[in-house]
Amino acid sequence: MTDPALDAEALRERAAASLVTARERTTLLTECVEEPDLTAQHSPLMSPLVWDLAHIGNQEEQWLLRAVGGQEAIRPEIDSIYDAFEHPRAERPKLPLLPPEEARRYARDVRGRALDVLESTAFHGERLTEAGFAFGMVAQHEQQHDETMLITHQLRSGPPALTALDPQPVPLFTGPSEVLVPGGPFTMGTSHEPWALDNERPAHRREVEPFHIDTTPVTNAAYQAFIEDGGYNEPRWWSAEGWAHIRQNSITAPLFWRRDGGQWLRRRFGATEAVPPDEPVLHVCWYEADAYARWAGRRLPTEAEWEKAARHDPAGDRSTRYPWGDADPGPEHANLGQRHLRPAPAGSYPAGESPLGVRQLIGDVWEWTSSDFLPYPGFRAFPYKEYSEVFFGTGYKVLRGGSFAVDAVACRGTFRNWDHPIRRQIFSGFRTARSVIL
Ligand code: AVJ
Ligand code: FE
Repeated sequence: MTDPALDAEALRERAAASLVTARERTTLLTECVEEPDLTAQHSPLMSPLVWDLAHIGNQEEQWLLRAVGGQEAIRPEIDSIYDAFEHPRAERPKLPLLPPEEARRYARDVRGRALDVLESTAFHGERLTEAGFAFGMVAQHEQQHDETMLITHQLRSGPPALTALDPQPVPLFTGPSEVLVPGGPFTMGTSHEPWALDNERPAHRREVEPFHIDTTPVTNAAYQAFIEDGGYNEPRWWSAEGWAHIRQNSITAPLFWRRDGGQWLRRRFGATEAVPPDEPVLHVCWYEADAYARWAGRRLPTEAEWEKAARHDPAGDRSTRYPWGDADPGPEHANLGQRHLRPAPAGSYPAGESPLGVRQLIGDVWEWTSSDFLPYPGFRAFPYKEYSEVFFGTGYKVLRGGSFAVDAVACRGTFRNWDHPIRRQIFSGFRTARSVIL
């Protein structure tokens, strides 16, 4: 009984709304500081904010105006400046970047034309625009850079520029610390989600042995116990590479943490505060997550285990879009979209739990998995190899579930993120798992 024309109209409205939401966030992130903070490089790991801004516009121009709309380049000479592969982040401040006002005008100009293209584009017949894919992809791209820009704000020195409400306080979580996920096959990835990106495709069956997984992400209090137990001085908890890395770089706690007498403090968006014990730990690298898990007598979940815990509905042997079912994320389900500038306490969002009772799989903190970033069987790069394909291999570990900084448009049970195992400026945490000994 579904009317394809009506579906297309609903998707068109969703595309327009997603582009608008992304631009509101981009505007906030680039208008809350003065010009010098937009053009400065706050960390060699990050671009100047003004590079992200024009790069957002340039990607939108390439995909929506040129590829979909068939238009000529507005400013062909700037393409190379905003090509992430031509210029690594460290060298971006030296490029002849558009100054802030020009970057804003360029992004605004592209957006005006993109909304016209959206009005006149059929959502059937061409792979790039089927169900509005290109528009959804561009909205997700902008939101991914909005998370990147929030990381830049976290790395910036100086007083706070951003404010947000804190998540609702919740009673201390007293449920079971882990749940048993039964073994057996489940459907991983998707072939139907219209705006799923290439690396999430296609849907395929995956066999998973039974395992236990933490009900909530690992908290600051639990992670502190690892520190106080001398975890960072004990090579047996660490992989060889992890041990070498933390020794060479004198890493003794999560990024942004500092010990002050008897307590731990952290810096968060320009303010210093006591580390909140009940919140999921944030800003740890894969090596730290891996070492903590070994110290706890556990291990990181594989990517397939994580997705089975998040999507498998044991009642129907089917995979849902989210742990709570197929409904789009609402504020009752998960901490997403930079609504709050921190994770919510462990045990929050009971309405977002999985059928087995696993909480906060979506939102709050990106969760490191033990898996390398690899293509699914039947993977095809689309629409460009530089989104996923060039990163496949052993150099990157997969993170799942999204953080408080990710918008819902770029977050779902199938969504895959990846980074180098040493990275911890990202909004990364983890939960642990253990195999069932049969
Ligand atoms: C998927 C977050 C790893 O930021 O490098 C942005 C997303 N790709 N522009 C990244 C992305 C192209 C990507 N991650
Ligand atoms: Fe990009």
